[in-house]
Amino acid sequence: MKSLASIRSDFPILSSRVNGKELVYLDSAATAQKPEVVIRAMDELYRTMNANIHRGIHYMAEETTARYEQARERVRQLLNAASTREVVFTSGATQSINLVASCFGERYVQAGDNIVVTEMEHHSNLVPWQFVAQRKGAELRVLPFDDSGALRMDLLEGLLDERTRIVAVTQASNVLGTMPDLRQIIATAHARDIPVLVDGCQGIVHEKTDVQALDCDFYAFSGHKLYGPNGIGVLYGKERWLEALPPYMGGGDMVGTVTLPTGTTFAELPLKFEAGTMNYIGAIGLGVAIDYLESLDFNEIRVHEKQLLDLATQRLETNIDGLRIYGTTLDKGPIVSFTVAGTHPADIGMIVDKLGVAIRTGTHCAEPVMTHYGITAMCRLSIGLYNTADEIELAATAIRRAVSMLR
Ligand code: ALA
Repeated sequence: MKSLASIRSDFPILSSRVNGKELVYLDSAATAQKPEVVIRAMDELYRTMNANIHRGIHYMAEETTARYEQARERVRQLLNAASTREVVFTSGATQSINLVASCFGERYVQAGDNIVVTEMEHHSNLVPWQFVAQRKGAELRVLPFDDSGALRMDLLEGLLDERTRIVAVTQASNVLGTMPDLRQIIATAHARDIPVLVDGCQGIVHEKTDVQALDCDFYAFSGHKLYGPNGIGVLYGKERWLEALPPYMGGGDMVGTVTLPTGTTFAELPLKFEAGTMNYIGAIGLGVAIDYLESLDFNEIRVHEKQLLDLATQRLETNIDGLRIYGTTLDKGPIVSFTVAGTHPADIGMIVDKLGVAIRTGTHCAEPVMTHYGITAMCRLSIGLYNTADEIELAATAIRRAVSMLR
């Protein structure tokens, strides 16, 4: 495996200084930093190979189109999707989930039906379903988690019935780190012919994901959390589902023939869901990010991140009185969310920032998780493949200093 020092040197931003200190970036769950190869590839495209895709017949248009479609094939391989017809580019996981909620809701959800989500979803996998439920007069059912952050799997069966239209669940909680037992959830739902959407934002970055082995019906992720560009994401959907759904947005490229006043037909998959000029530079950049990640050893990354998670947990828990960690399941992802009695998370975040340490504070776009614990905000330290044990030590020291100042 490549050395950690060599991996770090691939990410130019990691040598930045913030407030006069060396940057310690522990907010990769919000957005991950980008390796030089991704930045350079996108810069190079804008300088030398930029033309709209699927439209022109001139050299650059054809070349850019080919690279965009190669990026789609790259995503297909990453996910082990059966076909590129099942890989739709979007602006991010939020748009991917909105697409399914809107189109699936339009086609399949009626008054009196229900949709099942979990209490640990971030807003992107909650609010779109609330929209559908409200629009259609359906019920949103919520699978709760216990105080350790484990989903109450014993309650799942009881939430599903003949009116359940879809289950939407995260692969990994962005607050608790919990990685739900997706295979069990999917098997339980499929036993009743209920499809499952998996929000893969925080999961795909930490574990090898195979959509066919998982047997999920829809899978969404964002490029920017996978060390790729912002503004690009993916929706995977089983072909039979994507075929059955109506289009999402109307516009160029998603059509077959357009006639007035009506009678327009739509493009084949996956273009049916790709209206307007897509973020083709972002898609190609995502392909480069995937190449970069796959040049590393995913298992070693996971072991490395787990070691840092254990170190962070140990340093914070043993050194700071009144510190509580939320999410303590054994096989959780590398995320440590916490509060410290007598202090406000935002104050801790501001002080450690002055020491060069970037952590997230607030609701983490998952307010129901805060409500579960009866609080309004947490601090969160989230670990990426480039973080080091020294950075964890620096962060723990900074947090300890912040707490002693605030007390
Ligand atoms: N959902 C993102 C996070 O966890 C933005 O920070």
